[in-house]
Amino acid sequence: MILGIESSCDETSIAVVKNNQVLSNVVSSQLLHQEYGGVVPEFASREHMKNINKVMDQALEKADVDFSAINGIAVTRGPGLMGALLVGLSFAKGLSLASGKPLIGVNHIEGHIMANFLDHDDIQYPFLCLLVSGGHTMIVEVEEHGSYKLIGQSVDDAAGEAFDKGGKILHLTYPAGPIIDKIAKKGDRKFHYFPRAEIKNREYGFSFSGLKTSLYYLVKNKGRQWAKDNMDDICASYQEAIVDALKNKFFKAAQEYNIQRLVLAGGVAANSRLRETFKKQADKLGLKIYFPSLEFCTDNAAMIARAGLEDYRKDNYSSLDLQAIPNLKL
Ligand code: KG4
Ligand code: ZN
Repeated sequence: MILGIESSCDETSIAVVKNNQVLSNVVSSQLLHQEYGGVVPEFASREHMKNINKVMDQALEKADVDFSAINGIAVTRGPGLMGALLVGLSFAKGLSLASGKPLIGVNHIEGHIMANFLDHDDIQYPFLCLLVSGGHTMIVEVEEHGSYKLIGQSVDDAAGEAFDKGGKILHLTYPAGPIIDKIAKKGDRKFHYFPRAEIKNREYGFSFSGLKTSLYYLVKNKGRQWAKDNMDDICASYQEAIVDALKNKFFKAAQEYNIQRLVLAGGVAANSRLRETFKKQADKLGLKIYFPSLEFCTDNAAMIARAGLEDYRKDNYSSLDLQAIPNLKL
């Protein structure tokens, strides 16, 4: 039974996971950042400090377990915001020191990938993963837990950032990804054709900054009122450009690397149009595709516990001088 702790960005989350069974997954989202249109790092750390004890109590209570029953403490050590990471990491170290239970440092990106095993514990290696979050967009070949080969990544904005920054241009609340997803359902995807960038010499590289700029100038030229009047169609077209770019590269990579199993991960994997399009394409090509359930796409501690469980099984523990690494690589 693993306790998972996540505090890398703006969600304070603690979960109890017993093998693949999620006994609790408490996520406290920091809404105060909405006022600023993005995460303010200093506020994020303070909110984590304010909330973490309460979230811990709720996680144990919901799981209906006593802390003494926990076998290991898994915590995100990076990548993420330094101050935010330190709150969760220090909390985990305190628990480990006081109880003698092993500490397990987890890479947040690996957590997103392993989230898939919470829903499907039968996924076979190797598989190709598309990790799409607010901070990362990458295609990774996963040979086994802990063994990753980067096939391609974004050279500028992450897919989640493309949603959030596009939303800012359209005066939507942060984070705009889920809002655009919802509004786009009523819109026409062919209303406007946004660019799908190709990057010289990088077959599997992504670029979303041009897309954002293109939306910016469209709205600037046509005006705020026009944007308001056509919001559904703009969102549908903008979302389609992101989903299309991700789809083209990911399925091309799957074919070139001849990988039969595909796995989606990260906050943007919650996008309904992305899920629908990817499922259809996988079916067409006869490939197996997995998505985490919505709750495990965006930041949560159950995925950190699930990744930590793999390390726990290998006796791969961390020492108490474990450092937080804001730009930790997979
Ligand atoms: O994985 P995540 O919770 O945090 C990071 O590790 O970055 O991802 C957050 C990102 C945000 O950019 C948010 O707008 C996006 O995921 N997101 C979505 C949806 N739900 C969350 N983007 C598109 N459609 C959604 N339904
Ligand atoms: Zn994340």
